[in-house]
Formats: sequence, C-alpha cells, structure tokens
Amino acid sequence: MESKILFSAIQPSGILTLGNYIGAISNWIKLLDTEYNCIFSIADLHTLTVKQDPVQFKQNVFDLAATYLACDLNPDKCIFFLQSSVHQHTELTWILNTITYPGELQRMTQFKDKSKSHSDNINMGLMDYPVLMASDILLYNTNLVPVGADQKQHLELARNLAERFNNRYTDTFIIPEPYISENGAKIMSLQNPDKKMSKSDANLNSFISLNDDENTIIKKFKKAVTDSENEVRYDAINKAGISNLLTIYSVMTGKTIKESENEFSGHGYGVFKTSVAEAVAEVLIPLQKRKTQFLSDKGYIENVLKNGAEKALDKAEKKIKQVYNTIGILYQK
Ligand code: TRP
Repeated sequence: MESKILFSAIQPSGILTLGNYIGAISNWIKLLDTEYNCIFSIADLHTLTVKQDPVQFKQNVFDLAATYLACDLNPDKCIFFLQSSVHQHTELTWILNTITYPGELQRMTQFKDKSKSHSDNINMGLMDYPVLMASDILLYNTNLVPVGADQKQHLELARNLAERFNNRYTDTFIIPEPYISENGAKIMSLQNPDKKMSKSDANLNSFISLNDDENTIIKKFKKAVTDSENEVRYDAINKAGISNLLTIYSVMTGKTIKESENEFSGHGYGVFKTSVAEAVAEVLIPLQKRKTQFLSDKGYIENVLKNGAEKALDKAEKKIKQVYNTIGILYQK
C-alpha cells in the first residue's frame, strides 16, 4: 500500500511565537520520521490577503524558511516549497471558484473576524482564502492535513468542494481528513492564560518571540500571570497560568507534566518561572544561531525552495491535467 500523503502550510506573516514552535513547527519535524509522505509549503499567497510591505514580505519568507531549516526540517525527507512558485495552486483555485458559493465563504469565521480587524482592506482574496487553501490540499491527493482548531472550518470546505467536484464530474479528488497530532499542546498567552498565545497581542509580554534574547525571555516569564496559591500543580481550569508554564516546561525539556510537577514541589513560583525561562532559552538561543547561519546564505535557502518547487510542480501538473481533462478543457502544454 502506498503511504498516505500529508500536507500542511504556514504563512510567512512575520514574527513566530513559542506557540507556533510548539504547536506547529516541532510537529512538522516529528512528522518527517513517520510513515507519511510529507509536503510542507510556505503559503505566501495567503499572506497577501493582508497588506504587505514588499521588502519585509520577501524577508519574512526567508526568515520562515531559515527557521524551519534551523529546526532541522530536512528537505530530503519531504517536499518543502513556496506556494507561489507552483502556479497550479492559483489555477486550481479558479476552477474551484466556479463551484464555490459566495455564501459559504461569507459565513467563514476567519473571514468575518478579519473583515473586522482589517476593515480598511476587505478584498476578494480575503474572502477566497479558503478556496486557495482547498487547492493547496487537493492538488496533491492529500489524505491528511494537520490543522489547528482555527483552520477546521477551512478544511471542511476543502472536503465539501472535493465532494462537490467529484459528484458533478467524476471521482477526481481525495477527500482529506484532519490529522490530530498526539502532542496537541496549545500554548496560551503569558498575560491572559485563557487566550491563545498570539504575536498580534498588543501586550508584548504576553508572547515569546522566537527571536527574543535570553534576558527578554527571562523578563517575560517573570511577569507571567499565575495565581494566588504557591503550588506548582497542573489544573488547566483553576490554575491556567501555572498549567501553561508546566506545558511549556515539559515540551522544552521532554519531561512529563508529572515529572515537572514533582521537580518543583515545595518550590515557589519564582524559582519555577526562572527554570521555565531557562529551559526555553536553552532551546531558542541555539536555534537563533543556526537560523542566522542559514540567513547568511540566502542562495542555499533559494536552492532548497527551488528543488522543493520542482518536485511539487511535477505532482501539481499531473493533477491539474487530470482536472482539465475531466472538465473538458483542452489541455495543451
Ligand atoms: N491558512 C493556514 C493558516 O493560516 C495556512 C495554510 C495555507 C494551510 N494552506 C494550507 C494549512 C493548507 C493547511 C493546509 O494556518
């Protein structure tokens, strides 16, 4: 039996947080050593749906690629490429647009949220975003898509569009399933542990950027909101702040939550917070060094992405040809 295809993408939208590292980046790396065929993309065309400065935009792509390479994303073990380099993504988007209803896009939670937060720039791309995402997925005969809760609705649309197309024409697309990772750790804001950690939070102390230096990391953890007890114990409901710190500590050190609780039993929050900060710095500082090294050789990064795009193009072209033939488009290339 052929191994299943797993597809995921991440947007180059600037700062990456510790939440991205734990929730997305480190999971991709683990997936490389599973039985799945992994295809990972930098979804730059999605990012264009909010205004970008051209110089910064390009830099963000290099930055994201360098971050993944620094985290040991081995480009020989997967297809790692830039979405815009594979033109079939936008071609398939057009085809899928012809079977998508405006109502189902207007209903999307993310579209509604972003229309509010970017009310000066509500563009068609913002609305069509889930169709581009469906194309990313369906183009590669994807079986599994690791997605966070905020992308579930978009994956559902991809499934609906695949079924709609298959019903209207003939079986062409695989219906993708969500992939729920074993370590689905969700990292919360350090200042409001009921909220997800986010780089767009106005309170800069609420998130750890992957670029923060050691002093900043320590300072932010010292300010982390906890509770009025003085017991390091996991209780996500009554002790959301401490539980979040325990999760971070456990992921960073590879220790279980129980081991981590035991390690700090009888110690105050001050000692615990410093240890969490040090554990995070121990991972992030070497990572930053490796990232800087990769960034000093942009030619290498371009080469990695180019090789990835060649592999992706090959698969994408086969699929778009199949789609065109199915629809009755005269395919001439
Ligand atoms: N929209 C996704 C996000 O912001 C990124 C993305 C683009 C994606 N295309 C995808 C994720 C395809 C999974 C599959 O998180």
